Amino acid sequence: MFEKKLHDCKHKTEARLRHRFATVPESNIKDAISYAVLNGGKRLRAFLVWESSSIFDIDPVAVEHVAAAVECLHAYSLVHDDLPSMDNDCLRRGLPTVHVKWDEATAILAGDALQSLSFEFLSAEDLLLNPTVKLNLINTLAEASGMNGMVLGQMQDMLFEQRQDHVRVDEISAMQNNKTGKLLQWSAKSGAVMAQKRDSALESYSNSLGLAFQITDDILDIEGLSDELGKTPRKDLIAGKATFVSLMGLDQAKYEVKVLISKACDALDEYGSKAEGLRELAKYIGSRKN
Ligand code: IPE
Ligand code: IPE
Ligand code: MG
Ligand code: MG
Ligand code: MG
Repeated sequence: MFEKKLHDCKHKTEARLRHRFATVPESNIKDAISYAVLNGGKRLRAFLVWESSSIFDIDPVAVEHVAAAVECLHAYSLVHDDLPSMDNDCLRRGLPTVHVKWDEATAILAGDALQSLSFEFLSAEDLLLNPTVKLNLINTLAEASGMNGMVLGQMQDMLFEQRQDHVRVDEISAMQNNKTGKLLQWSAKSGAVMAQKRDSALESYSNSLGLAFQITDDILDIEGLSDELGKTPRKDLIAGKATFVSLMGLDQAKYEVKVLISKACDALDEYGSKAEGLRELAKYIGSRKN
């Protein structure tokens, strides 16, 4: 059931992305951009958008736009994260990274264009939402991804690598909340934003989910198999990165994930069976292999 829902969400989100690319003239940069955003990916952020929207019965075409927007923003962050000046990774989603397949300049430009495309989806004329809601989505995505969000987290991540002194767990949590959590939180809350409803359940769900997600990413760096993972394992370990696993060890990190997943599920009580997809996603995140 969960697999089918995730598959449908992936299909609809990718169809919306393909529809946008269909009218763009062929070029090197178009190839790199569509490769970066359509070369696989679990579509977890899109799924959060779909499932939180289903609680509030949001129009499916609007949901497609918002899901496509967050996947573009996420794909941009991955293309830049893999650059030689950042994580210097050559494998992403089981395929060569954009700077390996093309070159560094193309990867920088493809990331830049994906970021623009994300905001294009949220401001598009055929996104039939009230203008205040559109502005709210744009404003909150800019906050979640910029100097107080993902970009800040990426900077902190790199600075921690150079730190001579011990990095504390609360510092790692704050960094990971910025680099990964805020985009997941934005996705999970988007349904309530589109419905113009006050919400604290999705806020609390996504805080726990975001942290659990990043801890499993750190666990997979140690335990993952390259074929399943689609990226190079043990990169964090070799780089000596400060992660939850390096600070608390694998067993404690796994225990933390369990606690966070059940906390995330409990947070959704008020939405009853309408939030079942979100609960299933939380459980999947706790057991994922990639
Ligand atoms: C990977 O995110 C990057 C992190 C934020 C840790 P995902 O594991 O969601 O990547 P894709 O989209 O499925 O490739
Ligand atoms: C990157 O975190 C998160 C973002 C791209 C914002 P990681 O560097 O841990 O992600 P992976 O492991 O390369 O996917
Ligand atoms: Mg990184
Ligand atoms: Mg990386
Ligand atoms: Mg990682």
